[in-house]
Amino acid sequence: MSSSLGLTPEIVRYLAHVNPPEHPALTRCREETARMPNAMMQISAEQGAFMQVLARMLNAKRAFEIGVFTGYSSTAVALAMKELNPGARLLACDISEDYTTKARDYWREAQVDDIIELVIAPATQTLDARIAAGEAGQHDLGFIDADKTGYDSYYERGLQLLRKGGVMLFDNVLWSGRVVDPADTSADTSALRALAQKAKFDARVHAAMTNIGDGLLICVKR
Ligand SMILES: C[S@@+](CC[C@H](N)C(=O)[O-])C[C@H]1O[C@@H](n2cnc3c(N)ncnc32)[C@H](O)[C@@H]1O
Repeated sequence: MSSSLGLTPEIVRYLAHVNPPEHPALTRCREETARMPNAMMQISAEQGAFMQVLARMLNAKRAFEIGVFTGYSSTAVALAMKELNPGARLLACDISEDYTTKARDYWREAQVDDIIELVIAPATQTLDARIAAGEAGQHDLGFIDADKTGYDSYYERGLQLLRKGGVMLFDNVLWSGRVVDPADTSADTSALRALAQKAKFDARVHAAMTNIGDGLLICVKR
């Protein structure tokens, strides 16, 4: 099971115990994904609970996600969005038909398939098309959890899609601690460090990095 960086199994169990009950579709998604080779790509249950609360705080009617995988984060956020706003819409971006076929199954079980639009294409292309189609300033929430070298491009495009006061979350910004290893100068790690510095000094956002999951960078559009 995927869990937040540095938490003991006892603390993860405690979080599950005190957080709201997980929807059965989310439990099935988590348990079935745990048997897959890339299971570590999935967000943790406690991160899903956090993102649901955030969607509620924002009264999110429109959101985008980059990096669907088997659908845990999209199902969690869509459940919260639909409960508040039955007409809500979530744009889900991925490049894998294979992973997202599984996601569609959980969306159907959770009865959120009607509010999720999946686009299979490189996310930069999808976001550019949405900006060109006039969606700038219309999104309440964005979750970015795909290729790390693409984060800067998602940041710029996501900022255009967000409304003032809208929030973007960037996942894996602690990268299992690799961001503090000076010997790690890989493209992914360097991209994550660069994004953190950019957001810190960017007058367009209020940004804070937290240790939720594998590190979550939270950017509020000013
Ligand atoms: C870390 S996983 C996402 C995990 C997911 N948010 C969850 O809750 O389980 C990353 C996903 O990003 C997708 N991806 C990789 N490069 C991409 C790109 N350029 N555009 C869109 N999606 C991409 C992968 O196919 C994969 O499904």
